[in-house]
Amino acid sequence: MIAIYPGSFDPITYGHLDIISRCASKFDKVIVAVLNNKNKNVVFSIEDRVAMIKELTDKYPNIEVDSFNGLLIDYAKVKNADIIIRGLRAVSDYEYEMQMSLYNKKLYPEIETMFLVSKSTYSYLSSSIVKEIASYGGDISSFVPPTVEKRIKSKIVNK
Ligand code: PNS
Repeated sequence: MIAIYPGSFDPITYGHLDIISRCASKFDKVIVAVLNNKNKNVVFSIEDRVAMIKELTDKYPNIEVDSFNGLLIDYAKVKNADIIIRGLRAVSDYEYEMQMSLYNKKLYPEIETMFLVSKSTYSYLSSSIVKEIASYGGDISSFVPPTVEKRIKSKIVNK
């Protein structure tokens, strides 16, 4: 089975990494697909986001890191993916995730979306809040790996 784990990953957090490691042991192949959407307001370039994830998932032989443009289902078709993986943190995620999975299913009935409940330690974690905390000089070391922390800090200093 081939699974796709799509997202903005701006940047990747421990919450995303937890989902990735759990998927790596369940699927033959997992493609971490980073959305390269020009409309989205992102802090990290697509190259940086992909590089960070590659560095952090190096130890998993069945994980591929890639970027995609356009519709997720079109990318899923090209990659022969069977399943879309999304992490669910809290009830507040549910409405948006349900809507997305229903649209994806309507557009491409062969695809299934599977939700993994985020580890409780990370249920409050989001890339945008981590960036906000970092922008005010807060400690983000328990939210992102050291390599990501370093890059966030250098982005903020260089701003
Ligand atoms: O990490 P995010 O920002 O919550 O991820 C959202 C993502 C990338 C999964 C979603 O925006 C997406 O799939 N975008 C690609 C365009 C698309 O297929 N849109 C229709 C989905 S209903």
